[in-house]
Amino acid sequence: MAVDYRKEGKVAFFTLNRPEALNAIDAKSLEELSRALIDFKSDDNLLVGIITGTGERAFSVGADIRSILPQFKENKGKPWSGPPTIFRGLDLWKPMIAAVNGYALGGGLEIALACDIRIAAENATFGMPEVTLGIIPGWGGTQRLPRIIPQAKAAEMLFTGKPIDAREAYRVGLVNKVVRPAELMSAAQEMAELICRPAPLAVRAAKQAMLLGADRSLEDGMALEKTLNDYLVTTEDFEEGSNAFLSKRKPDFKGK
Ligand code: COA
Repeated sequence: MAVDYRKEGKVAFFTLNRPEALNAIDAKSLEELSRALIDFKSDDNLLVGIITGTGERAFSVGADIRSILPQFKENKGKPWSGPPTIFRGLDLWKPMIAAVNGYALGGGLEIALACDIRIAAENATFGMPEVTLGIIPGWGGTQRLPRIIPQAKAAEMLFTGKPIDAREAYRVGLVNKVVRPAELMSAAQEMAELICRPAPLAVRAAKQAMLLGADRSLEDGMALEKTLNDYLVTTEDFEEGSNAFLSKRKPDFKGK
């Protein structure tokens, strides 16, 4: 399998699994990842996803230069050949964590950018080397990077292709946390467990409001927030959350 997909309690694990090519993304990886994400999206028992790469050297070094890049040329001008669905978001309103265990380059970094939270091992490296190949990122990198880190730093990374290390990635706000390589997966799982504690539907709505609101006016964003809250106040979990607080007990959320 180019992507290993497994479920553990409320958490789904996606592992990019082509260590012989430093987990470069080929057509099979894209297909398997899309299929796994669709399953994750529709399985109500799963609340958070963690994506990582096999081995200690790479999260992913991006699009497979041998097999995927030639397709960019073949598909030139075909509007439907645009970024694979996984980079368009799948309306996946469940939190995704990238556990970055080495190189996150090009499409590898773009996968991490499509996640909500990034945790890096100390040996992680982040870069957009596309300009060194004569192209620019094609899976959202030029759009998401400057929305996540300061534009001047994004410009430096996008124009030079030079990577930054985990410490610099933390300094510019690209990653939430840097940990020792051996602690990476437990740190990602700890974060996932924290996200699993509050009301699941509220967490999903928070992601939806945050991402959809980012491209709207403040007023439109607040209208979206109200629409989502109008729905959340009708849920059982809202009753449970309020009652539990007032009776000084832990809430037992059902995601309903
Ligand atoms: N696509 C396909 N294969 C890739 C790859 C990619 N993006 N990146 C690395 N590989 C393959 C190499 O061809 C090599 O395979 P081989 O042993 O069959 O020759 C294997 O992964 C190991 O890579 P190698 O370059 O030998 O390791 P390294 O430690 O010397 O360098 C990198 C590691 C990540 C710095 C280097 O591989 C690199 O720059 N890769 C390209 C990254 C990139 O430009 N990504 C954006 C693509 S749009």
